[in-house]
Amino acid sequence: MLTISFANSKGGVGKSTACLCIAGAYAKAGSSVHIVDLDSNGTISRWLSKEDARPPGITVSKANPQQLGVHLQELARRLSPDLCLIDLAGAYEVALSIALFRSHLTLLPVCPSSEADIFEAVRVAGHIKTLFAAKGQGRKPLFRVLLTKTTTLLTLAHFHGMDQLRRLKLPRLAGRISERTA
Ligand SMILES: Nc1ncnc2c1ncn2[C@@H]1O[C@H](COP(=O)(O)OP(=O)(O)OP(=O)(O)O)[C@@H](O)[C@H]1O
Ligand SMILES: [Mg+2]
Repeated sequence: MLTISFANSKGGVGKSTACLCIAGAYAKAGSSVHIVDLDSNGTISRWLSKEDARPPGITVSKANPQQLGVHLQELARRLSPDLCLIDLAGAYEVALSIALFRSHLTLLPVCPSSEADIFEAVRVAGHIKTLFAAKGQGRKPLFRVLLTKTTTLLTLAHFHGMDQLRRLKLPRLAGRISERTA
């Protein structure tokens, strides 16, 4: 079971949307996907609450962050999904550290024209490095920025943000989630 967290301490950057888009894409391709909703606002749980509207192949659960390790073990034993996605709240809270440490990969959604999105992603990336250096026992953290809310034709502000990401040595995925109209 591959575990991916969606994290950025800035609210509204598109964590839950990116999580759901990626869940949908993998489910459509035939993978079984489970989303752990670690945001106390329960956004993903709400979006997927209607049984008949939920795409097949996606299941969702809520977990107590303090018991995330046990929750993931149970999940692997009972459902054994191919992919486990963890949606986090847009804040610095204990759930963030716990989930980052339990994930194989952390995706940091960022709209490249937003200085605040980039600033918070840098903070979270620094936090991941510190966490693994202190408690990782040699494990290396893996994180990538995921560009969100971009337009099909990138603007100068987008290019500037992408330059900043390069300058700050924040690695990013080549793919991006563009501005959606719905
Ligand atoms: N690619 C996109 N195109 C257009 N709108 C988007 C996109 N991604 C997210 N949004 C919109 O931005 C808002 C915030 O998105 P979302 O809830 O996914 O962010 P979040 O980071 O999970 O927020 P929070 O920190 O509150 O959990 C929502 O109104 C959502 O519809
Ligand atoms: Mg959210």
